[in-house]
Amino acid sequence: MSRYLVTGCAGFIGSTLVDALLADGCEVVGIDGFTDYYPRDRKDAAIAAARSDPAFELIEHDLGEAPPPPAALEGVAGIFHLAARPGVRASWGAGFEPYLHDNALATHLVAESAADRGLRLVFASSSSVYGDALAHPTSEDAPPAPVSPYGVTKLTCEHLLGAHSRNFGLDYVALRYFTVYGPRQRPDMAFARIIEALVAGSPFEVYGDGRQSRDFTFVQDAVAATIAAMHKGASAATYNVGGGSEATLRESVAILEELSDRTLDVRYTKEAAGDVRRTLADTRRIRGELGWEPAVELRAGLASMLEATGAIVPAGRDNG
Ligand SMILES: NC(=O)c1ccc[n+]([C@@H]2O[C@H](COP(=O)([O-])OP(=O)(O)OC[C@H]3O[C@@H](n4cnc5c(N)ncnc54)[C@H](O)[C@@H]3O)[C@@H](O)[C@H]2O)c1
Repeated sequence: MSRYLVTGCAGFIGSTLVDALLADGCEVVGIDGFTDYYPRDRKDAAIAAARSDPAFELIEHDLGEAPPPPAALEGVAGIFHLAARPGVRASWGAGFEPYLHDNALATHLVAESAADRGLRLVFASSSSVYGDALAHPTSEDAPPAPVSPYGVTKLTCEHLLGAHSRNFGLDYVALRYFTVYGPRQRPDMAFARIIEALVAGSPFEVYGDGRQSRDFTFVQDAVAATIAAMHKGASAATYNVGGGSEATLRESVAILEELSDRTLDVRYTKEAAGDVRRTLADTRRIRGELGWEPAVELRAGLASMLEATGAIVPAGRDNG
């Protein structure tokens, strides 16, 4: 039975990855520092099912303070490194310091441990490293030019992994996730905020004109790509993970309104610094080398997100 370490195991994507690995019959040791970026009760809920599985072990630990404890690395076949401080808007100003701690510093320490033990490390990078890309779809070879401090720290992490690889033979794969959504999505992300507003009947603030678009990736698809990268990714390679469901915020709102049969009270406000206008992944590399393709398109993914709230039955499904 394979055993893996998942960092950021109580987060949105990390907890979904843990569940998938456990369902595949793997043992999982998870590390999470339960940082204050959003409330802990959501993270506790996200790993509640995993914690009742004897194949899962949770270690509460801050990876920016110290490397993974030896017990977390014992007998593992590889490390999925998802722990990070996410989000572009909070990374400006005084908010920047924890990004250095949770992203750059933590990744440096995890990379050292992985190289020392000869363990493969799959790293959760981000489309934010591209900034406002010059071409769409954007290939992995496009020049990175992040427009947010968060994006700069994710690119820093990629470069740190490269340096550990060139000097100490670290075996790593970097995945650039494009806007991941689905059940358990972080409360600061747009779809989670829209659904919360639909349930509560409260106003929803759009940053900018709502015509900014994203290549949306359903969380189970992101998780499948992450597991495929551990098994089949080329060493020191970078892969885009894009769901292929490009939509503007306005289009996404329209789908959610239709599925929920409710109307959103939208308030337009000023653009947020660090937000890009458009993202769209060129996924030829990951399709060709890992045989991965996204399986869930936006409408179906949003319906399952609505369903997971327990408060709204999406149109086309009945609860009888
Ligand atoms: N959600 C997305 O759309 C998206 C897009 C691109 C990249 N990513 C990357 O994917 C990863 C997971 O993102 P998410 O949306 O699930 O975020 P999340 O905030 O839900 O999960 C991250 C987890 O890491 C933990 N963590 C943070 N700093 C830590 C530290 N110093 N030590 C130990 N644990 C720590 C947090 O407590 C949290 O539970 C992150 O690396 C993020 O940068 C996410």
